[in-house]
Amino acid sequence: MLKCLFVSTEVAPYAKTGGLADVAGALPKELRAQGVDVRIAMPYYGSMQGRFFDDSAQEPINFDVFLGWKQHPVSVFYDDKIVPTYFFKNDHFYYRGGLYGYDDDYERFAFFCKAVLDSIQHIGFIPDIIHCNDWQTGPICLLLKDKYKWDKRYENIRSIFTIHNMKFQGLFGDYALDTLGLGSEYKAADKIEFNGGISFLKAGLVYADFVTTVSPSYVEELKTWEYGCGLDGLLRDTVATRMVGILNGIDTEKYDPSDDPFIYETYDVDHLWNKEKNKLEFQKEFGLKQNSRSMMIGIISRITDQKGFDLMKQTIDGRWFLDKLMDLNVQFVLLGTGEYEYENMFKHFSYVYGDRARVFLDFNEELAQKIYAACDVFLMPSAFEPCGLGQLIAMRYGTVPIVRKTGGLKDTVIHYNYQTKEGTGFEFEEYSGYWLYQKIKEAYDCYNYDHEDFKQIMKNGMEKSYGWNESAKKYINLYKSVLEISALWNQANLDVSNIWKECAEKIYKVKVDLGNYINNNK
Ligand code: GLC
Repeated sequence: MLKCLFVSTEVAPYAKTGGLADVAGALPKELRAQGVDVRIAMPYYGSMQGRFFDDSAQEPINFDVFLGWKQHPVSVFYDDKIVPTYFFKNDHFYYRGGLYGYDDDYERFAFFCKAVLDSIQHIGFIPDIIHCNDWQTGPICLLLKDKYKWDKRYENIRSIFTIHNMKFQGLFGDYALDTLGLGSEYKAADKIEFNGGISFLKAGLVYADFVTTVSPSYVEELKTWEYGCGLDGLLRDTVATRMVGILNGIDTEKYDPSDDPFIYETYDVDHLWNKEKNKLEFQKEFGLKQNSRSMMIGIISRITDQKGFDLMKQTIDGRWFLDKLMDLNVQFVLLGTGEYEYENMFKHFSYVYGDRARVFLDFNEELAQKIYAACDVFLMPSAFEPCGLGQLIAMRYGTVPIVRKTGGLKDTVIHYNYQTKEGTGFEFEEYSGYWLYQKIKEAYDCYNYDHEDFKQIMKNGMEKSYGWNESAKKYINLYKSVLEISALWNQANLDVSNIWKECAEKIYKVKVDLGNYINNNK
């Protein structure tokens, strides 16, 4: 049985700041369902303690982790109610108000990386694959290859590194080398140096056996100057032959309008009229004017530049974007937290449009599901979007997405075609408030004057499948291919530099096969 240790610093429902947690909560579940012995490793944050399992009833596995000359204790707890999960406890590092953003993040996550690797000697689980996610786990790929390989227990373990967001890179000063137990030779362009500092993300990109990201379009975008965040050259050159995009899915059990305990009235594609009841009840509960024909626009998102909120600061024809938008017969609902400047903008906005706009500067799963069910359209005008989950959930709830054509949004939303009646939403390409407005207006006209087409778009969206089934298969194929290649390596028993060319070719072929496979199965 294929064994995989899935490493993530956030996993739903335990701890979440963004989409990574949803992926880490759902993908391992599906991998297990498809026969992989996958287990999760994550930090045991203060906010989780006492909430998910009874740790006082457990004898954790205790050992010390060495970071440079410092020694830190760790206790590993275990729970298998959802997916077997190892929780790494060290209150000095993880008993804090939030997950990230501390001065010692380099130490907190270097500690996590080493603790995860060391734990393999203690927990009785030697994986075939360690699947790392985002910068916090990048050093695992490096340490595994350069520092742990001499030990028989690690010799055959291979690593996969998944980029969920290239913008977050884990950049630190030279001190991070000491903490990771690495010499100054690692501060080199072909290793983990970046802009004069040390990059945890680069440790993942350079040293993983294979790199993935969360949509095929994002792979190509990352190789460009606009999206590559300074690492596009590396991705074009050395990483390109061992990188592939595999689309995220969503947890279709949790997000199911026909069986969702949080929404006012359940519905499915054959009972679409019940969706409208959700809108009316939502309007009632949250003090909006009750009107079933007023197009309700929803946004559920981190409120940051990435998500396109700067477009809503712009003016169109000399008027503020949101004023212009509210000239239409629409209602507006926003849920999320983020940058202070935007939060203030939306506070002002909801004050002005009291009975037609609701802004919740908060995050709440239950409310999110009510919003997905109540709204007619869902906005995601992202500047960049590695995959995006909101648009997938929206389509599943028959809520028509209006998105910018980028990354995963481009791969999952198809612009509606009035002739062929195909398509699941509305897309715009140029990143501007003007075009965002035009697309909302197009959706608005369709909603008001072409009922049948609008219904068709809703149905098209609801009928597509967004689960993890297909993508989990692709990950399993990838795991197997990587193991197969490394078996070849071992068999050949040659100097790695001699065999590198052959492997690169083989990996390239795997990439092409996978690419074709993905394209054929879109
Ligand atoms: C990040 C990306 C988002 C992606 C998610 C899960 O949050 O911004 O696009 O869907 O990770 O991979």
